[in-house]
Amino acid sequence: MSEKTKKPLRSAQWFGSDDKNGFMYRSWMKNQGIPDHQFKGKPVIGICNTWSELTPCNAHFRQIAEKVKQGVIEAGGVPVEFPVFSNGESNLRPTAMLTRNLASMDVEESIRGNPIDGVVLLVGCDKTTPALLMGAASCNLPTIVVSGGPMLNGKHKGQDIGSGTIVWQMHEQYKSGELSLHDFMGAEAGMSRSAGTCNTMGTASTMASMVEALGVSLPHNAAIPAVDSRRYVLAHMSGIQIVDMVEEDLTLSKILTPEAFHNAIRTNAAIGGSTNAVIHLKAIAQRIGVDLDLEDWQKYGREIPTLVNLQPSGQYLMEDFYYAGGLPAVLRRLGEAGKLDKETITVNGKTLWDNVKTAPCYNDDVIRTIDNPLVEQGGICILRGNLAPRGAVLKPSAATPELMKHKGRAVVFENLDHYKKRILDPALDIDADCIMVLKNCGPKGYPGMAEVGNMGLPPKLLKQGVTDMVRISDARMSGTAFGTVVLHVAPEAMELGPLAAVQDGDLIELDAQAGVLNLLITDEELEARLALLRETHVIVKTGGYLELYREHVLQADEGCDFDFLIGCRGADVPSHSH
Ligand code: FES
Repeated sequence: MSEKTKKPLRSAQWFGSDDKNGFMYRSWMKNQGIPDHQFKGKPVIGICNTWSELTPCNAHFRQIAEKVKQGVIEAGGVPVEFPVFSNGESNLRPTAMLTRNLASMDVEESIRGNPIDGVVLLVGCDKTTPALLMGAASCNLPTIVVSGGPMLNGKHKGQDIGSGTIVWQMHEQYKSGELSLHDFMGAEAGMSRSAGTCNTMGTASTMASMVEALGVSLPHNAAIPAVDSRRYVLAHMSGIQIVDMVEEDLTLSKILTPEAFHNAIRTNAAIGGSTNAVIHLKAIAQRIGVDLDLEDWQKYGREIPTLVNLQPSGQYLMEDFYYAGGLPAVLRRLGEAGKLDKETITVNGKTLWDNVKTAPCYNDDVIRTIDNPLVEQGGICILRGNLAPRGAVLKPSAATPELMKHKGRAVVFENLDHYKKRILDPALDIDADCIMVLKNCGPKGYPGMAEVGNMGLPPKLLKQGVTDMVRISDARMSGTAFGTVVLHVAPEAMELGPLAAVQDGDLIELDAQAGVLNLLITDEELEARLALLRETHVIVKTGGYLELYREHVLQADEGCDFDFLIGCRGADVPSHSH
């Protein structure tokens, strides 16, 4: 045990005894060439790695892990790297969200079952961040997060182009006939020209920012580009820091307090962050025992202005964000405006405010001032009404202001296949004032709650120059997408929430400012329709993981975690005799 250590190392339960068990635990580890003195009271630091060539956003993580190891060794610890399930957004079908909880189980059991005193989480692509934090939160060891960093700005024909966002934009232009197939395909290589995650303020950058605002990473974790040498310095310094955290017994629950989550909600508004953060923060909070509900988004986030002028809400990309000062500059502006809890503790033992109070801003167009925001009220709108009794969300910074209050005729798609067929029908009775309603894409309906809520507009309306319409679904939306899109309607259609009862021609009323989402039919009519649906409703048994998922996944307002995974189970593990 090192002199600074205040309580016995957890790893000593494996390596600390001179009996048969200690012999066996050490002996097998020694086959890697680890000398005997490494087992004498040095903190063992697990490096939880989501590296995978099938998760391109995390494909550079072996180099990052090496830098973390250098820091751990420099600080007197013993680094041990281990792989966990890597759920990459771009390749994994039907959606990476389907396996977020599975990955979190892998992480939790890997941490608890192994001789680890502290853990470094290497995260990047969207779901890897919440999955690893959820699993680690259920164990509550000292934990630090290192994100992989965003890709460099995309480039095409002399213009900066943003991951994902440019695909949505150019595809609409292609469908409307504005853009040739050749030009559309030409952007492909230019969009992704370095290692890293999406370079827009999509879900990956949002979650990396959430991590920094929560205080579970070192400052600047969110924005340093993946290939910038300072990303490797951050990894190295995180390796040093985790050894210190073990010595100070700075566990996750001391950092992930209710106030830290409130700061994350405020930060999400200030950065114009993804709606997916609503689901992921809830799931992480539940694992560590913090009460967080949809109303907290209204209470702490709704009044916060969007300061960060990044796509998809604004103009710039993550590289510009870092050069402008990154998240510390945003947090300083929030703090100076009295919109930050300044007392929350971070991984370096300092308060969030101590870390950012002198942070410079180098570009007031990329990071706007409080007096000149991109959007006055940037937080996520929480909607309720007879169409969403357990809530729905809308991101105002990505919406068309004139559509935020709207009444329109429903055009209903029963599921994604129905949408794909029907949307191309030139005879479809739809105009720009209609409200597109997509059912059965929620947690159980899809399953996995796919990012299809920003369903493309009908080609015939695109050709007329229509650029946005109100869309409502129980699905999620990519953080890189935009539009007046109501998401996460709960309960979902597959659970026979009221969304299941919407029919073509019904009138729907949306008032985002007032938080209202209503289906304008009588209560009796709604109940009669649902009663009819109940008579024939079945959830098909599939077997395998899919069946486990459907049986245990919670609704969007509860974070889509599995019901049996909620809570912190700690890191105690029964001793094991060989
Ligand atoms: Fe991995 Fe966007 S697809 S971060």
